Formats: sequence, C-alpha cells, structure tokens
Amino acid sequence: MAEGPQVVESLHPLLHGLPVPAPTAILALAPLRRRLRDELLQRERARLARLAGAWEVDRASARAELAALGDRLLDEHRHQAWARAARGSGVERLAAAVDRRLFRQGAELMDDPSVDARVRGRIVSDLARVNDLIGSYWSLLRAAGPSLGPGPTTVLDLASGHGGLALWLLRQGPRRGLQLQVTATDLRDDYLDPARQRAARAGLPLQTMALDALAMDLAPRSYDVVTCTQAIHHFSPGQVAVLLAEARRVARRSVVFTDGLRSTRQLGLACALFVGMGSHPASVHDCAVSVRRMFVPEELDLLAALAPGGPGAHARFVAPAFVGLLAPAAA
Ligand SMILES: C[S@@+](CC[C@H](N)C(=O)[O-])C[C@H]1O[C@@H](n2cnc3c(N)ncnc32)[C@H](O)[C@@H]1O
Repeated sequence: MAEGPQVVESLHPLLHGLPVPAPTAILALAPLRRRLRDELLQRERARLARLAGAWEVDRASARAELAALGDRLLDEHRHQAWARAARGSGVERLAAAVDRRLFRQGAELMDDPSVDARVRGRIVSDLARVNDLIGSYWSLLRAAGPSLGPGPTTVLDLASGHGGLALWLLRQGPRRGLQLQVTATDLRDDYLDPARQRAARAGLPLQTMALDALAMDLAPRSYDVVTCTQAIHHFSPGQVAVLLAEARRVARRSVVFTDGLRSTRQLGLACALFVGMGSHPASVHDCAVSVRRMFVPEELDLLAALAPGGPGAHARFVAPAFVGLLAPAAA
C-alpha cells in the first residue's frame, strides 16, 4: 500500500479534544429505541434462554439461529422505531424521517470478489489515509477504558484488513505504557499482506493469522482482549450478534468493537473528506454505502443482548463520530 507523505498527519488532537455531542437524530430517538429494545428482549426471553443453552452444545446450529434472529429483530426494531416516532413529537418525527431515508443495506465494492484487486487496494489505502487523518483508532482506546492493561496483554484483532488498528496499537502501546502483543486476522491470508509489509517496514512485531471472525476455530479464553474496528457494518445485524458471541467466548478479559455511526452528519463529513483527499471514486462509493449501513448505539445494544455470553455488554456514542461496544469475556 502506498504510504505517501502527509501534510497533516492527523486531525486527532483537534477532533478528539472537542466535546462533540451525538447527532441530534440519534439523541432524539434514543429513549424510544431503548424502550423498544426492552420490549423485544422481554418478548423473546424464552427463546434467548434456549439459544444460550444450545450455544454451549452445538455452536454451529446456534450461530445460524442467532444470525437469523438478529436479522429479524433488528429489522423489526428499526421499522417499529420509525413507525412509533412518526406518531411522536416533532423532533422524533423529523429524526425518524431522516433516518428512514438514510438507512440502506447496500453492498460495498470492497466486499465484492469480482472487483479488480488494484481497485480494492486503492479503496483500502484511501480508507487508511482517512482513518489516520481523523484518528479513528483513538476511538478504540476511548471505548476500551482500562481493558488493555496493566501488564502484558494479548490482543486478537478481527477483520483487520490492512492492519490499521493492529499496527496503530503496536505503535501506541509503548507510548502509553501498554504491553500489547497483537495478532491481526482476516478472512483470507492474502488480505493481510499489506499489514505484514507495513509491519516489516516499521519494524513492528505483528502476528497474523487467517480467521473467519464468524466461526473462530480457537479455544475459549485464548486472548486477553478481542478487538474489531471499522468493520462491523460489513456484517449483517445477525452476523454482528454472532461476531460478538464468538469474540466473548475467545476473550479472557474483554471485547471492544468500534465503528462509525449512521447519521447524516457522518455521511456528509466523511464523503467530503474522501473527495477532498482525492480518493478513488470506488472509495467515495464505499464511504456512502458504509455510513448508510452503520448502526446506532441502541441497535448494537439489542444485538449484544441477543448474543450468548452473559450480561454486561454496552454500546455508546464515542465522540466525535463513532459507536463503541464494550463487553466482558463470556461468563
Ligand atoms: C474495512 S476493513 C477493516 C478495517 C480494519 N479493521 C482497520 O483496522 O482499519 C473490513 C475487513 O473485514 C474483513 N471481513 C469480512 N468478513 C469477514 C469475516 N467473516 N471474517 C474475518 N474478516 C472478515 C474484510 O476482508 C475486510 O478486510
């Protein structure tokens, strides 16, 4: 991947110091979405108890059931939220109308195997430049709280792609007194080539491994912390529930996921940034598609509550533009 000189290395000190509130449309719908989540969980409690039992006995079948349930319930949650908000206050009506038009489960070119490898490479490198510029990976440290220390800590990073987070953690760890040993993983080993090359150039001790994050062939409690960033919108809602259940099973201490947030503010700013940085048209396409697929905190909270692993998982807005999900290792 090309790592050209950057005039401004990162806007992080500027952006992350600002007390940016969550987008108004998300705040306006949050109480209604939380009530709906609780109603759905109450209605499905017998099924969820059965699913948690099945997870211990036959994970492959339980994964398929969890994925289907997650897709169905999140769809119901979204549509019910819009429908109820349409009968609510003016602000709720406006927020729901905006979100209803914004949400779309489109397909990213990055995930299309028929897309030329050079175009995929450009998308990945454009994404890396934007992530570096806005300091996306700082959102993971904020969401993680004290989970990454003290003492030696093994980190399993899921869906690592070009290894942006994994390499950033290896660079930042020593500066912040963290002793991290990081393993970057992705569906295919060749997707990790850029990460290995970048690690070799920078002299960073990155470990890599091909791993399907939705069906991890790893023993329970194999790594202290399991991370995943800028990737959960690549999965369907039900798959996010499976991803979290798998991650909690494999974690000894905690699971930390971060991603962008579905909002018109994010859509406008992110796409403007991609265009302004001279990105490939395919990257601008993927930026728009991905923001429209992203989750809001209450949706991730619902999916986290479906996933076997016990209580304690919680999603929240992480300023200036992210959603973070922190969960303890499976009980
Ligand atoms: C946007 S990239 C991730 C960026 C990266 N996490 C970072 O640090 O910036 C999304 C990645 O998810 C990977 N992916 C998709 N499905 C996967 C699966 N089932 N298991 C593992 N990785 C997967 C894709 O191959 C792709 O590399």
